[in-house]
Amino acid sequence: MEKLALLFLYSSVLIPIFITCAAKDTITVGQVIRDGDSTLVSADETYELGFFSPGSSRNRFLGIWFKNISPQTAVWVANTEAPLTNVFGELRVSHGGLQLFSGNNMVIWSTNSSGYVSLGILIWQSFDHPGDTLLPGMRIGVDLVTGKSRHLTSWKTEDDPSAGPYVLRVAPNGYPQLFETQNLDSKSRFGPWNGATFKGMPDFGGNSIQFIFNDTGRYFGYNLVNSPQASRMRLKPDGDIEYLNWINLTQSWNAFSTATNDNCASYSICGPYGVCNIDNTPACSCLDGFEPRNAEDWRRADWSSGCQRIEPLACGNENGYGDSFPNITGVKFPDTNVSWYNQSMTLAECEVACKRNCLCMAYANSDITNGGSGCLLWFSDLVDIRLDDETQQLYIRMPASELTSPTAREHGSNKKKQTIIIVVSTLLGSILILALYLAWRKNKRSHKTILGRVPARNEKCANESGKEDKELSSYSLSIIANSTNNFSLNNKLGEGGFGSVYKGVLEDRQEIAVKRLSETSTQGQDEFKNEVKFIAKLQHRNLVKLIGYCIQEKERMLIYEYMAKKSLDSFIFG
Ligand SMILES: *[C@@H]1O[C@H](CO)[C@@H](O)[C@H](O)[C@H]1NC(C)=O
Ligand SMILES: *[C@@H]1O[C@H](CO)[C@@H](O)[C@H](O)[C@H]1NC(C)=O
Ligand SMILES: *[C@@H]1O[C@H](CO)[C@@H](O)[C@H](O)[C@H]1NC(C)=O
Ligand SMILES: *[C@@H]1O[C@H](CO)[C@@H](O)[C@H](O)[C@H]1NC(C)=O
Ligand SMILES: *[C@@H]1O[C@H](CO)[C@@H](O)[C@H](O)[C@H]1NC(C)=O
Ligand SMILES: *[C@@H]1O[C@H](CO)[C@@H](O)[C@H](O)[C@H]1NC(C)=O
Repeated sequence: MEKLALLFLYSSVLIPIFITCAAKDTITVGQVIRDGDSTLVSADETYELGFFSPGSSRNRFLGIWFKNISPQTAVWVANTEAPLTNVFGELRVSHGGLQLFSGNNMVIWSTNSSGYVSLGILIWQSFDHPGDTLLPGMRIGVDLVTGKSRHLTSWKTEDDPSAGPYVLRVAPNGYPQLFETQNLDSKSRFGPWNGATFKGMPDFGGNSIQFIFNDTGRYFGYNLVNSPQASRMRLKPDGDIEYLNWINLTQSWNAFSTATNDNCASYSICGPYGVCNIDNTPACSCLDGFEPRNAEDWRRADWSSGCQRIEPLACGNENGYGDSFPNITGVKFPDTNVSWYNQSMTLAECEVACKRNCLCMAYANSDITNGGSGCLLWFSDLVDIRLDDETQQLYIRMPASELTSPTAREHGSNKKKQTIIIVVSTLLGSILILALYLAWRKNKRSHKTILGRVPARNEKCANESGKEDKELSSYSLSIIANSTNNFSLNNKLGEGGFGSVYKGVLEDRQEIAVKRLSETSTQGQDEFKNEVKFIAKLQHRNLVKLIGYCIQEKERMLIYEYMAKKSLDSFIFG
């Protein structure tokens, strides 16, 4: 830390105040650093302080950059908001600290430090006044006693180091997280802290992430493990956060990693209880057991109103303490702005604490290191959830009745599956009509179909038309009715052009989606048989799998495998 810190202002007895770039070059009271005249070099020869012009700008700034690295890479700028318009700037040291003078002898920037205190006391250092760059050993954070925040602020442009719209800070509320704001609005959330990292932040490439927090403050940074090596994390003018390494061999910066900045990284894009899945179009869906709060907005791709519970919670009702806490994984933990934590509680204690308080919406281990420990409770609607590779369990308060639903333990959303199944049905339906038309023209003489008779459940289909039909089964109406709770509304996944789609569970627990053709459907019996045939031929490992059909009385149904979200998505959206 000492070695890498940049610019110090110390007090001393003999020389009342002196500054140092960690001791190699020091200047004392009365000394002057003039633009174009002299620079200060840090003890390890890594950094240099002097005057410079960023990018194609002609303005002059007092700054610190990497020594011996070209192109010049500034890591800190003093007079960001007050550029020098000529080359006559001077940095002077006085008993009042550092002062930057313009050519006409005006102070345009100063450290505001008030005289000397006592021997060797650090009065001021550039690390306490970060710009857009986080260097190893440096910390951003918040002092919870004074409220003072140390954060990164983007440059306006590559040529202009004045404050741009983006700020990266450690949040002061709830369990620790980092927030990037744009013009004060939350843009992205990183974390919460899980004992090892803040999810979404750049990968520091083997260097150690440092985060300390207690009742008086919370501070984030990283330390080099493989020094000496020039590295920096930067909040760029466009809001991206990059971690870069200097590659001596190629004499260039390598953008080693970037903070997540896809659409799902937009803070709370799917609203409360909405889940963002970057692989989906649209990306937003509701957690299981929830439905869009405003279906109209939701259809217009405005998801900000989020989702609401389908079944109310029991907690607080006379009916008692009926809520349950199914666990999910594979989601980035929700915003912890309104949360409570205790790092020495066990998960079992955590569960009790959450159950006891009806306002507690979820709980989880706060720390994943050493197999999981600590307790984190959410006391607000769950916002800013996205699918990711998280393996940590999140326990969400649900009405007990939801537990009996076969999907209560899944994440993702019924709504999304509904939409997808409808889209698939419509898609296949359209292809089918075209195919039918072609088939009719080509093959008028033979009307033999695979559906010449109705085999019993699980009996292999008559196999006149090829290998594709081998796995197709016919199901009786009673079996399908049973599996879908007699086509109950609860099982209804949605409505397509040809009828309704229901979710069902067969006796062997296989989950199915049943497309029940409406009696008014224009799709006749022949068309139906052809669709079965056609889809069977179309089958592909990623395609929603047709496993059978049901044709009895007036009913005509297609039985699909109820698809795991992933494969269905990749089929539809490539
Ligand atoms: C010094 O104080 C002035 C007035 O309080 C403030 O505008 C300025 O930003 C401060 N400078 C630094 C470097 O903190
Ligand atoms: C909080 O952490 C800081 C930094 O490690 C430390 O200086 C301070 O004493 C701690 N405060 C408490 C109350 O533990
Ligand atoms: C970096 O490369 C230069 C030659 O391009 C060489 O002189 C120097 O010793 C190298 N520095 C390190 C730290 O490897
Ligand atoms: C969490 O869910 C998994 C499977 O989804 C289950 O095996 C496990 O028992 C659950 N844990 C608890 C504590 O409910
Ligand atoms: C976080 O919660 C505090 C109150 O605890 C509130 O003032 C603040 O607006 C909240 N911030 C966000 C980003 O929700
Ligand atoms: C945290 O939990 C431990 C273990 O249950 C308990 O002893 C301690 O008092 C709790 N601390 C706070 C601040 O609630």
